[in-house]
Amino acid sequence: MKLHVTGGSGYLGSELVRRARDVTLERVEICDSAAVRALLERLRPDVVIHTAYRQDGPGARAITVDGAGNVAAAAHAIGARLLHLSTDVVFDGRKGSPYVEEDEPCPVTDYGRAKTESEARVLAEHPDALVVRTSLIVGGPGHEPSKHERSAHDPRIVFYEDEIRCPIQVGDLAAALLELAALDVSGVLHLAGADALSRVELAELVTGRPVRRSPAPLGRPRDCRLDSSRARSMLRTEVRGARAVLDARGADG
Ligand SMILES: NC(=O)c1ccc[n+]([C@@H]2O[C@H](COP(=O)([O-])OP(=O)(O)OC[C@H]3O[C@@H](n4cnc5c(N)ncnc54)[C@H](OP(=O)(O)O)[C@@H]3O)[C@@H](O)[C@H]2O)c1
Repeated sequence: MKLHVTGGSGYLGSELVRRARDVTLERVEICDSAAVRALLERLRPDVVIHTAYRQDGPGARAITVDGAGNVAAAAHAIGARLLHLSTDVVFDGRKGSPYVEEDEPCPVTDYGRAKTESEARVLAEHPDALVVRTSLIVGGPGHEPSKHERSAHDPRIVFYEDEIRCPIQVGDLAAALLELAALDVSGVLHLAGADALSRVELAELVTGRPVRRSPAPLGRPRDCRLDSSRARSMLRTEVRGARAVLDARGADG
C-alpha cells in the first residue's frame, strides 16, 4: 500500500510517516487545488491520509475546509482511498452521553464549524472517503509531548473541570489509521481513547500535580465523549485510555 500523508510534519502526520512502510509527505499548499492535483497525479498513492489543517489564525477556515475539499477531489480523481481526520468538537457537548456516528454535528466554535464543513466537503468530493473523528492527541512517556501535554506544565493556564474528552495516544491513533487504510470502510467513524477525562484530570495526569481549575465558560463544547465501539469492533490495534497511557509518566513527565 502506497500512502501519502498531508500534514506530514505535524504531530499526527509525523507519527504516521514514522510507522508507514511506503509513504510520501511532500508538502504542497492545500489551498492550491491545481498543485494538490498535480502532486497526487505524480505520486499516485493508493491511500491518502489527510491530517493537514489550521485550527485558528489567518486562513484557518480556507485551509481546513477548502484545503480538505481539494485533497478529497484530487484523491478521488486518481482513484485513491481517503481518510480524513476530524474532531469531537463537531458536537456541542450537550448530549449528556457519548456521541455516536449517527448524531448530527452541531458545532459551537469556529474550529468545530470549519471541521464540520470540511467533513461535508470531503464526502461530497469523495463519497467513499472515511471521516475519522478523534479527540485530544497525547504522546505519553517516551514520546514527544503534544501541545496538550506541554500546556499542562504552564502554570498560567486554568483548566476546565467540566470539559470532558476521550484523549488518544498518537501511536495508537496512527496504528489504527494505518489499519483502517487497508479496510473497506467508508462514511464517518469515531476513534478516540477509552477513558473520558476532564481537562483538569488530563493536565493532572500529565504533571502529577494539582493544576489551576475553573468551570468552562459558556459557549465551550463541554462533554464531547465519543462512542468508539464501532471502530473497536473492526480494529486489531488496541486503542488505550489516557490513564493507561499517562499513569506511568511519574511526577515530572
Ligand atoms: N491535536 C489534537 O489534539 C487533535 C484533536 C482532534 C482532531 N485532530 C485532527 O487531527 C489532525 C492532525 O492534527 P495535528 O495536531 O497532528 O496537526 P498539527 O500538528 O497542527 O499539524 C498540522 C499540519 O498541517 C500542515 N498544514 C497547515 N496548513 C497547511 C497548508 N495550507 N497547506 C499544507 N499543509 C498545511 C502543517 O504544515 P506546516 O506547518 O508546514 O504548515 C502541519 O504539518 C487535524 O485534522 C485535526 O483537526 C487533532
